[in-house]
This record gives sequence, structure tokens and C-alpha cells, in this order.
Amino acid sequence: MFVLGIETSCDETAAAIVTGEREILADVVLSQLDEHRPYGGVVPEIAARSHLQHVDRLVAEAMRRAQKSFAELDAIAVTGGPGLIGGVIVGVMTAKALALAAGKPFLAVNHLEGHALTARLTHAIDFPYLLLLVSGGHCQVLAVEGVGRYTRLGTTIDDAAGEAFDKVAKMTGLGYPGGPAVEKAAALGDVSRFVLPRPMKGKPGCDFSFSGLKNAVRLLVESLPRPLGPQDAADVCAAFQAAVADSVADRVKKAITVFKARWPQGGHLVVAGGVAANTALRQTLIRIGSETGLEFLAPPLNLCTDNAAMIAWAGVERLRLGLVDDLSFAPRPRWPLDPDARKVGFAGVKA
Ligand code: KG4
Ligand code: ZN
Repeated sequence: MFVLGIETSCDETAAAIVTGEREILADVVLSQLDEHRPYGGVVPEIAARSHLQHVDRLVAEAMRRAQKSFAELDAIAVTGGPGLIGGVIVGVMTAKALALAAGKPFLAVNHLEGHALTARLTHAIDFPYLLLLVSGGHCQVLAVEGVGRYTRLGTTIDDAAGEAFDKVAKMTGLGYPGGPAVEKAAALGDVSRFVLPRPMKGKPGCDFSFSGLKNAVRLLVESLPRPLGPQDAADVCAAFQAAVADSVADRVKKAITVFKARWPQGGHLVVAGGVAANTALRQTLIRIGSETGLEFLAPPLNLCTDNAAMIAWAGVERLRLGLVDDLSFAPRPRWPLDPDARKVGFAGVKA
């Protein structure tokens, strides 16, 4: 089975070809980072225009690398949402046109499902498993029970984890994108100099919160001499990163208790999303996994951040189950994985 995947829901234009045997034949990603950097964040109109400009070339490049013709494909999968709607429309229209011209099935994939199923592409694990999805738009913990079957155990009640990293980078003068810059600075910082709050720690349930922590960082930065020197910035970043890791650890531990009680056959704790690149967070999750008897798995970094291989793979999984979509599919700015979950903040938007 050969499936072409297309991803255009945020600031990466991507195309990939994946087989039913879990091989990635091609995986091309074009980051728009440089186009958005002057604005300190993703500008939706710039993103949509850039996807439009590059998506055809990237699809052609993926087909060339995989040495496949459209006639050899079994289906065309695309992110149908959630995400920045202009970009999603570009991807969906491209995929529909290709599916129609080549006479192939069209699959509209939930971007979050792409992240959620990546561990089955990289590690062939069985359902159910526990997934921590931490990205620029999301912070959720979900029981992944099957394709299209998710139970959300917790979500952020305000900001996403990556969003908090990006804001802290801005406040400490480290620029955009913030996550990698904060991690790099934190490595040079003294983690014991400042103590920041651990949001939600010890609270009932498995929800996350980062806006209070973000405000605590703001107050801390305002109390320091400006402009912030490199050591002060590093110490603030170290304190912030430790607070995030500690808070996430508390929430994930609670989610593991719930998961084990309801899905005792599950054996894996999986992390996905851009913030999964963070080493401090990974180390925390490895520790929690070993403390609780769940095996910790993290896809390689290029498959944790936005990519089209995860969309193609979700397409493989859906095609196997006959979950093909109609060409009348309408792109969705919001599309929660667990529609029955209680509405909290902005849950269901971009991951
Ligand atoms: O999943 P992703 O590539 O894009 C979407 O949000 O869809 O995640 C991007 C987020 C950004 O907020 C970025 O700052 C954060 O992931 N990130 C990190 C690290 N690398 C990327 N956060 C913390 N530590 C990192 N090393
Ligand atoms: Zn994503």
C-alpha cells in the first residue's frame, strides 16, 4: 500500500509517501520560519500564501524521491484540520484535485490523529496507549484506543505548552521560535536561583495550565534589571523549564493512574508534538514511565514536529479500515479528537 500525505495546517508545508509496511519512502518538509520570524509568530495569511506557492513542488519532489507515479498510489491523505484555515484549505484543495485527477481515494486526516498514530508508524505498538501531545497549539493527554477512538483525560485550561515556551523566549529576549532557544539558555542557567509556581500540581483531574506560570515569569523578568543579561535570562529559563517539567510530570502521573485503571492492557507512554523535543521533559517522562511500569516511547524529532509522514500513515490506517472521505469534505478550523470531552478553553484548535 502506498499513500501520499500532505500537511499545510500551520507553518510547515510538507509531503510524504508512506507504505503499509511502515516505510517512509519520501518525507519533505519546508519550514516557513524565516517568513514569520520578523513578526515573532505565525501570520496566518503569510502561511496560506506560502503553502499555495510551494505545495505543488513539494508533492512533486516527494513523488520523485519515492520514485512513484500517481497511478501507483492507493490513496491521497491530507490534513483536513484542525489548523489555520487558509493553509488547511490549500492542502485540502490540492489533495482533492490530485485524488480526482488520478482517480484515487481521498482521505481527510485530523492533524491530531496524525500526531497520535505516529508511534505506530515508528514503533508498531498496539492499542491502547497513553499519549501526551505537547505542541505550539496543544497540551493534552489522551488514551489512544484505536483509529478514530480517543478519550481525552486532560487538556490545558489556558495556554498550550509550546505557546508558553514561545512567550517566555520573547520576554527574555531570546526570539522566535522560543522552545529551542529557552532550552538552550536553560542549560546554562542556575535552576535554584528562582522558584516559580507549579501550575495544577496536586489538583484533582489531569488538566494542565500555563498562563499563571507565564505571568509569574513576566513579574520575575520585570523585577530584574533591564535589558536582561544573558545569565539572568538563562536562570529565568532554567526555572521556567523546571516548573513546566514538574507540572507536566504531576499531571501525567495522574493520567497514568486513570489510564491503568480503565485500560489495564495498555503498556506504553508516548509523547508527540514539537515540545517533545525538550530534553528535560523527555527525561522526566522516561522517569515517570519507569516508575509506573509503562514503556516510554518518543518518535524521532522530525516526526514529533509537524510533518506529512504522520498524515500519510494515518491515511494508511484509515484506508485499511475503509474510512475514505468524500470530495465534499469541508476543511475544519477546529476538530477535537474526542468530541465527547468537556469543552475547555481552546481545545480542538491547532496542535
Ligand atoms: O508540533 P509543533 O512543531 O507545531 C505545532 O504547534 O503545530 O510545535 C511547535 C512548538 C513551538 O511552540 C516550539 O517553541 C516548541 O514546539 N518547541 C519546543 C522545543 N522545540 C520546539 N519547546 C520546548 N523545547 C524544545 N526543545
Ligand atoms: Zn502539530
